[in-house]
Amino acid sequence: MWMDQDKLLETAKEVLKHNDRGGWTVPAGQLYPHQWLWDSCFIAIGLRHFNVERAKTELLSLLRGQWSNGMLPNIIFLDDKEYKGHRNLWRSWVSPYAPKDVTTSGITQPPMLAEAVVAVGEKLSEAKRHQWYEDIYPHLLRYHEWLYVERNPHQEGLIVLLHPYECGLDNSPTWISELRKHSMPWWILAIEQLHLDGLVNLVRRDTRHIPPGQRMSNIEAMAYWAAVRRLRRKAYNSEAILSRSLFLVEDLVFNCILIRANQQLKKIAASLGRTLPDNLLAAMDKTEQALEELWDNSSGQYFSRSFVSHKLIEEPTIATLLALYSGAIPKAKAKLLIDLLKDRNAFATTWPVPSVPLNSAFFDPVKYWQGPTWVNINWLIIKGLENYGFSGDAAKLRRQTLELVARGGMNEYFNPLTGQAVGAPTFSWTAALTIDLLKT
Ligand code: GLC
Repeated sequence: MWMDQDKLLETAKEVLKHNDRGGWTVPAGQLYPHQWLWDSCFIAIGLRHFNVERAKTELLSLLRGQWSNGMLPNIIFLDDKEYKGHRNLWRSWVSPYAPKDVTTSGITQPPMLAEAVVAVGEKLSEAKRHQWYEDIYPHLLRYHEWLYVERNPHQEGLIVLLHPYECGLDNSPTWISELRKHSMPWWILAIEQLHLDGLVNLVRRDTRHIPPGQRMSNIEAMAYWAAVRRLRRKAYNSEAILSRSLFLVEDLVFNCILIRANQQLKKIAASLGRTLPDNLLAAMDKTEQALEELWDNSSGQYFSRSFVSHKLIEEPTIATLLALYSGAIPKAKAKLLIDLLKDRNAFATTWPVPSVPLNSAFFDPVKYWQGPTWVNINWLIIKGLENYGFSGDAAKLRRQTLELVARGGMNEYFNPLTGQAVGAPTFSWTAALTIDLLKT
């Protein structure tokens, strides 16, 4: 490798230090000033290599936000008057389950916690690992139980998401197409028709820091806020929301990550000599089986599914490759996914892996989750390739990912055609996972 690995490691550590808020880390200071759920999991996976105690704290600090029903929220807000508007959009206090001493969002994010807990555990002595697992196990168990009790309404195994922010790939074509088809409020369409959407710039924060062409449109951003307000009006009560909303998705990314997380939770329980409740174990098995319902034979890939119509949302995205990370798919299908990864019309760009394939009508090399390469997704795919024994492909992607960051910087995302770094600079999970890729 041409790069100076020591220098890369030092730069990555600097980014994490810069974004450290004392016990927890912001994704990127200017753009994302709060604590995010899956970000902190990825951050802990990097921190464990040079400060395992701090890595533990990163994960334990997420538990401040846990709701009494078990939910882990995707955001825990910084208690600062500058961000009153953020807290007020979500108003977690409308739910009786929300914690009293911090304010949070009212939805979750991909369940990366179990993976992060095990990764941190690997760096501890046996006795300390035991204690670590003891400390976190009850919270983790409650979280997985909450997912199955609240978000698996027909007990079919696939978890239903109520808002695109829950899948972590905010404006992925899967969700944007669902929004356009069923969930655009009339008043937002009217604003669009009248070309008044420019006014949204007055209140939008992200486009003050990042060029608007790299983010979602004002219309989409407005529709996402409106969707938050609908959830808030129902006090984040899943039952009430599931019975009425049209914007509900059995999301592929989320469920693939959950399958892997379930395995890690089982591992933690076994090492503590505990057994998971039978109904939870049965539900976990169903998720693995149900994943195959998301396979589309004609295009040879997995898709998310609409909970409302029960139809696959046939928009090709990076999500299909995360089926490798789940570890639950047959090897023959894994091979077909590798073909897609190597296909120059699909995911084989100069700087892979793009968040949507080149042959998708949505593809835009700099637009957030509609084209750019993200380091956390590459990391998940690398793990998936390793799982299935494609070690050469995994090593190649690891090298390409490190080279991308070494050339471009520790940004939020990258142009998959040119390697240009885009999105927020000094992005924590890029730094943390760079460390992990260098050290494992
Ligand atoms: C964006 C990403 C989301 C991430 C958050 C903080 O919203 O889409 O996945 O958690 O930023 O980094």
